[in-house]
Amino acid sequence: MGKYEGKRVVITGGSSGFGLATAQLLVDEGARVLITGRDQAALDAARDRLGRSAVAVRSDAASLPDIDALADRVKAEFGTVDALFANAGVNGFAPFEATSEELFDQLLTINAKGPYFTIQKLAPLLAEGSGVVLTTSVANVLGLPMLSAYAAGKAAVRSMTRSLARELLPRKIRVNAVSPGPIDSGILEKSMPREAADQAKAQMAADNPMLRMGTPLEVATTVLFLAFDATYTTGAELAVDGGGSQL
Ligand SMILES: NC(=O)c1ccc[n+]([C@@H]2O[C@H](COP(=O)([O-])OP(=O)(O)OC[C@H]3O[C@@H](n4cnc5c(N)ncnc54)[C@H](OP(=O)(O)O)[C@@H]3O)[C@@H](O)[C@H]2O)c1
Repeated sequence: MGKYEGKRVVITGGSSGFGLATAQLLVDEGARVLITGRDQAALDAARDRLGRSAVAVRSDAASLPDIDALADRVKAEFGTVDALFANAGVNGFAPFEATSEELFDQLLTINAKGPYFTIQKLAPLLAEGSGVVLTTSVANVLGLPMLSAYAAGKAAVRSMTRSLARELLPRKIRVNAVSPGPIDSGILEKSMPREAADQAKAQMAADNPMLRMGTPLEVATTVLFLAFDATYTTGAELAVDGGGSQL
């Protein structure tokens, strides 16, 4: 019997990167997962890869009507949920002076407002003893160049992890955050040309205490630890960053 047999897990941003790696570990160990994303082709490919234990739902984390519809779908598919990984997110690089209102709004809406209302709308479906994990970033404690709006959104995620952990405690729901450093998930290639992404990745590896980037699997195992195993932990953040934010 798999470790997660009978568990029902919702993963926003589950069509690639950490979300998909987490979904794969879960279905491999017997869970049912419902993943979201915006791109239908990526969702179809992810569902094909995950197999019959996965449901893929097109849902934009920036849209409140989409989040409401997602909650209805989750209720219809699962009834109640044992873990929620509020992970959907995008990155966006710009110097402070050149950060547009549009970029600021996009980053804060998808990365901060999205998980906040996803958790709010799905909260009634969370089972007693369930775990919520949000994806923040080591950028929330580092003054990194080109990332001021992104970092602000991720700092908001760090803050709401604490507040929601307090407010959901009476229902015995734990809320924690995973804080990745540089992880080779393919996200960089989505926001810059291939050559620039390769250069950025080489630099990030050289700057990291472990002299490498992390893998989506290393984030996924941490997410599942926080969601299921860390039963005396709530409001916390766990860095998966090769020591980059600590050493
Ligand atoms: N990779 C890193 O080094 C790193 C470091 C720190 C934090 N993070 C954070 O980790 C999370 C996952 O990133 P990743 O590296 O795994 O990147 P990824 O492979 O690009 O995965 C992002 C996922 O989120 C989905 N998504 C993006 N915007 C969405 C929206 N508005 N509504 C619904 N789904 C949306 C994407 O699908 P669609 O594009 O099809 O919607 C995809 O499934 C993000 O929150 C990111 O900010 C990443």
